[in-house]
Amino acid sequence: PVQNGENLRSPIRCIMGHVNAGKTKLLDCISYTHLQEGEAGRITQQIGATYLPAENIRERTKELKANAKLNVPGLLVIGTPEHESFTKLHSRGPGLCDIAVLVVDIMHGLEPQTIESLNLLKKGNTDFLIALNKVDRLYGWKTCRNAPIGMAIRQQSKDVMIEFNRRLTEIITQFKEQGISTELYYKNEEMGETYNIVPTSAISGEGVPDLLLLLVQWAQETNIKRVTYSEEVKCTVLDVVEGYVTSIDVVLVNGVLHEGDEIVVGGLQGPVVTSIRALLTPHPMRELRVMGTYESYKEIKAAQCIKIAAQGLEHAIAGASLYVVRPNDDIEVIKESAMEYVDSVMSRIDKSGEGVYVQASTLWSVEALLDFLKTPEVNIPVSCISIGAVQKMDVMKVSAGKKEYATILAYGVEIILRRKRREKLRRQQFSRVLKIMPNCVFNTKDPIVLGV
Ligand code: GTP
Ligand code: MG
Repeated sequence: PVQNGENLRSPIRCIMGHVNAGKTKLLDCISYTHLQEGEAGRITQQIGATYLPAENIRERTKELKANAKLNVPGLLVIGTPEHESFTKLHSRGPGLCDIAVLVVDIMHGLEPQTIESLNLLKKGNTDFLIALNKVDRLYGWKTCRNAPIGMAIRQQSKDVMIEFNRRLTEIITQFKEQGISTELYYKNEEMGETYNIVPTSAISGEGVPDLLLLLVQWAQETNIKRVTYSEEVKCTVLDVVEGYVTSIDVVLVNGVLHEGDEIVVGGLQGPVVTSIRALLTPHPMRELRVMGTYESYKEIKAAQCIKIAAQGLEHAIAGASLYVVRPNDDIEVIKESAMEYVDSVMSRIDKSGEGVYVQASTLWSVEALLDFLKTPEVNIPVSCISIGAVQKMDVMKVSAGKKEYATILAYGVEIILRRKRREKLRRQQFSRVLKIMPNCVFNTKDPIVLGV
């Protein structure tokens, strides 16, 4: 599906920020076309990522800049509800991204998770821009649906402008306190050193054109090297989708995948070696009225989010890397590479068998939870990890162990248990329980499943 004239791949971006800042809403807003008033046609809303083709970006930014030069084939946005856990918990997830969008609620300014995200971005050396979201909540804001932000701001009353500037200045000061220099993007004269702020509304779409154009320009003007397409396959599993035939959703960052390719994916029981039976993506945007159907391809070039069907994938895990075996490759070496990250996480589990059970949706979140449980204030041993929904088998497994560790700490996963069994288990908010955990969770008769 990707036409790639200048040999740039689509930049990949992720969305981070505090709870309720509007991350999901902003992603939704970006993922809809606004071709006709009142009629929103959904574009490639993929499980795990949303692909925004260049022609769509051109359409949506034409008011801001007519005929913008777009050298990238499109934009790949990671961050669907399933993956919110990896933006909430610190993780390797953002490492996949070329650039992040840090969403800040203009009414609240910097919040604990904004700062957490900021630290993660600094640590990972990930470039980012700031979406100063919910501008429509400024008292008296006049809606200018999907308008470029400059245009929208000029439509506002003096009072709204004053309020906007007051809040903006305050937030710039808050960022400064975190050692980060920021400025409204169209006033920013020190790009690179000073981070861009784009005011947005995820509800009425003001500023979204600016956000899209900036993301594209960031890639094709200042970071060409990073988004230049390379042949070597770089691919990460976002999701394992169980069903009649289990499939995996992956982000292909670089390289090409073909139908029939032999692949190796990391799994908790060891590497999964299989060959690609089908390569799927949702229908291209024009046919998107037909939801839930996928189009099959003989080959797909990066960057793209792809659904792969193959045998044995139920043992693959989200967060693991995928490798392709080429004719002269040593498969043992590839298996080792595929297991590297899995092994590094597994090696941190308590080998004595004394500890709780940790379950989350991806290897990234498991790693983050292990980090958290290890901190001196928490200090809870972990003897087993699992990825995916909590099922009867998991409960049976923990029940068989020592009673004081008969606990499943589940984060961001579904809990598939019969009602009776469910009722026997106590469910509480994870964050709340963590605070009181040392006193209350141990020594309980039944295993406790905690879900968010
Ligand atoms: P978590 O997933 O819980 O971390 O939150 P989130 O950052 O994904 O926020 P979400 O998109 O769910 O938005 C939270 C609430 O704010 C919802 O009720 C949204 O409708 C609302 N909201 C988000 N963006 C905007 C905005 O630009 N303007 C207004 N008025 N409301 C917004
Ligand atoms: Mg959300």
